[in-house]
Amino acid sequence: MQSSSAIKQNTFADDIRRGLSAAPKFLSSKYFYDDEGSRLFQEIMKLPEYYLTQAEFEIFSTQTGEIFRAFTTANETFDLIELGAGDGSKTSLLVDYFLKQTADFTYVPIDISGEALSFLTEKFKAQFPGLSIQTEQGDYFQTLETFRSKSNKRKIILFLGSNIGNFGKEQAQNFFRQLRAVMNSTDLLFIGFDLQKDPRVILCAYDDMQNITAKFNLNLLTRINRELGANFNLENFSHYASYHPIEGAARSFLISRKAQTVFVESLNKTFDFAAWEPIFMEISQKYSLAMIEDLAQTSGFEVSQYFFDSQKFYTNSLWKPI
Ligand code: AVJ
Repeated sequence: MQSSSAIKQNTFADDIRRGLSAAPKFLSSKYFYDDEGSRLFQEIMKLPEYYLTQAEFEIFSTQTGEIFRAFTTANETFDLIELGAGDGSKTSLLVDYFLKQTADFTYVPIDISGEALSFLTEKFKAQFPGLSIQTEQGDYFQTLETFRSKSNKRKIILFLGSNIGNFGKEQAQNFFRQLRAVMNSTDLLFIGFDLQKDPRVILCAYDDMQNITAKFNLNLLTRINRELGANFNLENFSHYASYHPIEGAARSFLISRKAQTVFVESLNKTFDFAAWEPIFMEISQKYSLAMIEDLAQTSGFEVSQYFFDSQKFYTNSLWKPI
């Protein structure tokens, strides 16, 4: 991944070295999404246990009109900006409705993956011939900053799919503060949060019967084997998911099933694993409404509206700069 930002980005190899040298060991979930990882995540979104996608889809399909009216009342021109658009299946529900209301907007998906963007563009152009679409490849904040300086149109920024869940509390706050810094006072932010609920329901979403989530996690070891010439034996690691109801944090780990040593050629380094030693892989933070309000406030926003699915498993929350 190459970034034009002035801040130097760590490479994949650096991050893997750092994570496997740490105590406790960790690997970053941002590296899950190689081709196979992206394919596995598509499968996760179709799992019966993975309620998040279904819930957000329900909100978008049953409350499209309300969402539209919350976004715009005066029929002014706006940019509908999506951060990390993925396959855009939920956004297409909004786009379809907005076009039928003859809203005047440009859809701007921003992603670091050029491949994901061109796939999405093809799909949207075929589905919505009348849509004005402008893709932007690169870093979210940089892209938004250049956007701000070249257009004074109102921006409605979408950050969907509970992607915020992969950030810890402080990281989430930093992220929203940085977003706030590139937003004008009339812009809006629309975010998908997974809510706290029966811990058993949450745990099942990260420990599915078909073991797709396990494969998704283990795939990062395959990626390290391939890209860094490592010799992880996947049979010696197993997926373990936990949910901590006080913190509202779902976490996933890979557990070393025995004492073993792994060699990573690109780092020219071996890493020792004790029997049953965990590698921390991912956090999926679950929110209460109080936590959402607190996060908004401490990063320069106020919550202007919540949209819920019928089970109140999930919320899309609309934020205004203050
Ligand atoms: C893409 C971050 C929303 O944490 O629920 C799904 C990723 N990991 N199953 C989530 C994921 C395991 C997902 N997000």
